Amino acid sequence: METPRKLYIETYGCQMNFSDSQIVGSIMTDHNFETTENIAEADLIFVNTCSIRDHAEKRVRARLQEFKKYKKIKPGLIIGVLGCMAERLKSQLIEEEKMVDLIVGPDAYRDLPRLLTVAEGGQKAINVILSADETYADINPVRLDSSGISAFISIMRGCENFCSYCVVPFTRGKERSRDPETIVNEAKDLFSNGYREVTLLGQNVNSYKSESGLGFAQLMERVAQIDPGLRVRFATSHPKDLSDDLLHTISAYPNICRSIHLPVQSGSDRILKLMNRKYDRQWYMDRIEAIKKILPDSAISTDIIAGFSSETDQDHEDTLGLMRWVGYDYAFMFKYSERPGTTAEKKYKDDIPETVKSERLKQIIDLQQELSYKSNLADVGKTFEVLVERYSKKSGKELAGRNSQNKVIVFPKNDFKPGDYVNVQVTSCTTATLKGMVIQS
Ligand code: 5AD
Ligand code: SF4
Repeated sequence: METPRKLYIETYGCQMNFSDSQIVGSIMTDHNFETTENIAEADLIFVNTCSIRDHAEKRVRARLQEFKKYKKIKPGLIIGVLGCMAERLKSQLIEEEKMVDLIVGPDAYRDLPRLLTVAEGGQKAINVILSADETYADINPVRLDSSGISAFISIMRGCENFCSYCVVPFTRGKERSRDPETIVNEAKDLFSNGYREVTLLGQNVNSYKSESGLGFAQLMERVAQIDPGLRVRFATSHPKDLSDDLLHTISAYPNICRSIHLPVQSGSDRILKLMNRKYDRQWYMDRIEAIKKILPDSAISTDIIAGFSSETDQDHEDTLGLMRWVGYDYAFMFKYSERPGTTAEKKYKDDIPETVKSERLKQIIDLQQELSYKSNLADVGKTFEVLVERYSKKSGKELAGRNSQNKVIVFPKNDFKPGDYVNVQVTSCTTATLKGMVIQS
C-alpha cells in the first residue's frame, strides 16, 4: 500500500459541521489519506463552511485567499470547499474563487474520493446534490482533535422548519432521522473507548423519528441506559416541539444533563410571526415554566437575533423583558444578517440600520452578562459533579470540566485526570467561569 497522503480539514460554523468533518475524515482515511493538523504538509485542504450569516462566509473567503500561498509552494495541492457555502453557491464559488478545485455539498461526502480523482485530472469537480435519505449512518467518524472525553453524535440531518431568516433548510435539505441502532452502537463504542459524554445533534432533535417510530425521548433513554457513567446532552431543541414527556424522561435519568438550549430568537409576538417560528411568547413562557417545574436544577440557554426586519424599539424591549423573565444562564446572540433565497430576503426589507442593530445587540449582550453573572453567583457554595475534560489553559496545576448544567468549573488538580468524575464545591465565580475546591466523597 502506498504511504497515505495528508488531509488538512478546517471547520467553521455549528457542531453539526464539526461532526460532518469527522465523517469526511473517515471517508478519506478509507481512501489512503491521514488527517494532519499541520496545513503546510497537506496534499489536500478541505474547508467545511457555514452560511448562517454573511460574516461566516466572509471569513471563509478571506481564508481561501491565504491558501493561495500553499498552492504556490505545492502546485499539486487540491483545495475543496465543503458544507453550506458549497451548497448555497454551487459552481458560482469556483468562478469567484479560482483557487478552489472541489465543491461538495453536505449530502455528497461519499462521492469525495471520485471527485478528488476528477480534480487531480485537472478538472473542477462538483457535487451539490441533496439527498432525502443520506444520514451517513454506517460511517464511523474519525475523532478529529478530540479530548477523548466528549463527542458529538449526529442523529438527524436537515431542517424543514423554514424560519424565514434561515438558510439551513436550503443548504442542508430535508429532515431525516438516522437509524437508532447505529446511534446507540456509536455511543457504546465511544464509552468503551473511554469517552464519558455524548451530545446528540440535530437542527431540531425533538422531531427525531426513526422508521420504526422511535421518538427522541425513547432514543435518548436508550443512550442513557448504556451506562450511568456516560453523560448525555442534546442540541438543539425547537420550542414548538419540546414536550413535557421529554422533560420527564430527562428527570428520570441523572446522567441526562440538566441543560436545555431553547432558542427564542425574539421576545416579540409580531417578530416571532414574521420569523415563522410557529410559537408565540406565551407558548415559549409556558415551555420555560415546564422546564423550571419538571427540572428545577436545569440550566436554560438560548439564541437571540437582534434587528430583524421591521423590529421596533418596543419589539426589542420585549426581547430584553423576556430575557429577564427567563433569567438565561447563557446565550448566543447575533445581529440579523439577511440571507439570499430565504423568505425574509424575498418578502421583508432588511431595514434596521447597522448602527441600530449594533446598539440593540450590545444591550442584549450586556443584559446577558448580568444574567450569567447572577446565575454563576447563585452557584457559589453549591457542590456539583464535574466531568474533568482537560488541564486548565492558564495553569497546569488546575483541571477544567463541566457540571451537568454545562458550566465550566476550574479546580486544583490533586490526583485527578481527564475522564474522572469529581465532586467540586464552587468557591468563587466570574461571568464566564466557576472556581471550586474538591469535596472528598
Ligand atoms: N441572521 C442572524 N442569525 C441567524 N441565525 C440563523 N440565521 C440567522 C441570520 N440570518 C441564528 C439563530 C439560530 C442560530 C444557529 O443562528 O439564532 O438559532
Ligand atoms: Fe434554521 Fe429554524 Fe431550522 Fe434552526 S429550526 S436550522 S433556525 S430553519
